Amino acid sequence: MSKSPKRSSPRKSRPDGTREIHHRVKNNLQIIASILRLQMRREESLSAQTALGGAITRIMGMVQVHDLLAQEEVPRVDLRELLGRLLDLNVQAFMMPGQTIRPVTTGPSVVVSGDKAVSIALAANELIVNVLKHAYRGRREGKIEARVGTEGGGVVVEVEDDGTGLPAGFTLAAGSNLGLRLVQSVVRDDLRGEFMLVPGKRGTSATIRFRKRT
Ligand SMILES: Nc1ncnc2c1ncn2[C@@H]1O[C@H](COP(=O)(O)OP(=O)(O)OP(=O)(O)O)[C@@H](O)[C@H]1O
Ligand SMILES: [Mg+2]
Repeated sequence: MSKSPKRSSPRKSRPDGTREIHHRVKNNLQIIASILRLQMRREESLSAQTALGGAITRIMGMVQVHDLLAQEEVPRVDLRELLGRLLDLNVQAFMMPGQTIRPVTTGPSVVVSGDKAVSIALAANELIVNVLKHAYRGRREGKIEARVGTEGGGVVVEVEDDGTGLPAGFTLAAGSNLGLRLVQSVVRDDLRGEFMLVPGKRGTSATIRFRKRT
């Protein structure tokens, strides 16, 4: 029989209890999201509802990472699986009635540390939500593609849409609200990487590049 590099029997918890901790963090984040959801339903002001909705979306992105980490024997995350989950979750949450937005995840399996996965989840969530909020306004169909790959020892994560494109004269410096500011600071400070948001083949293309160093 060939030897498997990984232990094949699923264990309930690692000896250090890290899986249990991720499980608890996930549950606590879900409780926070539920509290915010209750508060959002009671709010009459649209701007308060929007702000609370944004916070819930960001927290639910982090839930996905801790859910994946709670299943792993080693604290590592497969980026393609993470991106696939974030795409599905947000398409379900934001697709308007009568709209068909097709989520596609491509690329090889690229594994990163839990810390990096949390940063990538935060940034990728913003990019995916942006596509759903801005790229297909007034359109019935679209495709949103998340790609993961490696390039000269580094990791590349791309989110591309075939929607309306960025507003005329858009620059990251002038056109970023909280979402893209968060992406820029996470990529620069936490991942020590680079971020680009440019016109794509048809719509908009966002790229994050960083070194794995794990
Ligand atoms: N994929 C995209 N297609 C078209 N326009 C986009 C796309 N991504 C970003 N934009 C434009 O960039 C602007 C800034 O995005 P950003 O995420 O910073 O803010 P926001 O989505 O408006 O609000 P929030 O702070 O809640 O994220 C958007 O308002 C939108 O005009
Ligand atoms: Mg945004």
